[in-house]
Amino acid sequence: MHARLWLWENPASFPELRPRRLRGHPVLRDLVAEARFHVEKLVQPVFIREELSRPRPLGSLPGLSAYGPESPELVEYIASAMDDGVKTFLVFGTPQRKTRLGDPAYDVNGVVQRSLRYVRRELGEEPLLVTDLCLCGYTDHGHCGVPRQHPQRGIVIDNDETLGLYTRIAVAQAEAGSDVIAPSGMMDGQVGAIRRALDDSGFSDVAIMSYSVKYASAFYGPFREAVDSSPRFGDRSTYQMDPRNRGEALKEALLDIGEGADILMVKPALAYLDVIYLLKESLPHYPLAAYSVSGEYLMVEALAEKGMADRIRLHMEVLTSIARAGADLIITYWAREAARVVKENGG
Ligand code: PBG
Repeated sequence: MHARLWLWENPASFPELRPRRLRGHPVLRDLVAEARFHVEKLVQPVFIREELSRPRPLGSLPGLSAYGPESPELVEYIASAMDDGVKTFLVFGTPQRKTRLGDPAYDVNGVVQRSLRYVRRELGEEPLLVTDLCLCGYTDHGHCGVPRQHPQRGIVIDNDETLGLYTRIAVAQAEAGSDVIAPSGMMDGQVGAIRRALDDSGFSDVAIMSYSVKYASAFYGPFREAVDSSPRFGDRSTYQMDPRNRGEALKEALLDIGEGADILMVKPALAYLDVIYLLKESLPHYPLAAYSVSGEYLMVEALAEKGMADRIRLHMEVLTSIARAGADLIITYWAREAARVVKENGG
């Protein structure tokens, strides 16, 4: 530390240090390169829509499609992504009918449960299936929990009533074959409630990847369009984190660890690299995921579409930056493409 500070203050005392010396040869650059992302640590989101029998391109997420719950194309997509090296999938579902309490989320024949059973039947245990656990895609009001009339504040989202529904979703997903449950609703105590419910139902081997540090972000727009989950009234700032807060991220992460989270997550990624760095520095031995969200993906795609940047280089730079900040796993809409690029360049 001392030497580093001294060098910082006296750069002229080291005239022999020429940083460019290490940049002159491509192999030398690889030799001294510090951060990289790993294909086996990328997670590919997958969208299932109950009403579809054929895949349908997602207008808001170029290059991606939504699949029918029991469609052969879904299985082909997962199998071919696995061939390219991506083996972990984060499954989102959109039901045909939305209700106040989002019951298709915990129905045995709900859209996600049906597709999990189908994929398991066709592909066995090889793909790692992670399921997003939330209500916003299933409720007719688009909120992540149960609405309730508050005497002064109008309609609020009831924390503890919502937890009861989350535990039912967790058990339904585990019964259908989920390997990892990923609660994303930002209710207090959700990890602990889900852990207990899973254990009580005989699923103590099902892991929890918690969206521990999830901000009330404007970067979720293309995702909400893809799954029709925009709130019909108000916004999510009474349950998702305020983008101004960083110290609070540590509090959320520590609470989740205490409640039994196996993997922590920061979301979004690119505008919150400082938070990723903080969590990795503070909790270095805990697996940390970062979710590079839909708006980040679309920003890159739009820049490339305008011809102002190389699409592949830009996506690679984003993923590398997230890994450099300290994320171990990265959830990205570009996972499968990244795997292809890495494969074509010989790993
Ligand atoms: C569900 C959920 C959201 C995302 C993942 N899970 C949306 C939200 O909080 O509104 C966003 C993902 C993305 O933008 O890529 N709560």
